[in-house]
Amino acid sequence: MTETWHDAAASADIAEDDVLGVTLLGLRIALFRLDGEVFALHDQCPHGRALLSKGFVENGCVECPLHQGLVDIRSGAPRGAPIIDPVRAYAARIVDGRVQVAL
Ligand code: FES
Repeated sequence: MTETWHDAAASADIAEDDVLGVTLLGLRIALFRLDGEVFALHDQCPHGRALLSKGFVENGCVECPLHQGLVDIRSGAPRGAPIIDPVRAYAARIVDGRVQVAL
């Protein structure tokens, strides 16, 4: 299936080193901003059912609020136990002050 860009949020609504949870096409997505760039991850920890958008951003990773596992925000790769599986990462971009996510 071909991915298309979807409007997700105002760019100004995502602070540097912060996260915003949104729902797009029925999918929960966590939007992050690092060094001025935006990144999008599936908004569910692969270890349990915690929302990564409720986690803490630190050193390019999001720390799960439930058991403190770590996920790389840029790639979705696991970076700290108990998370061992990757999180799906989506392409994201900023166009005219709006964040778009490819789904
Ligand atoms: S639910 Fe996220 S680390 Fe356990």
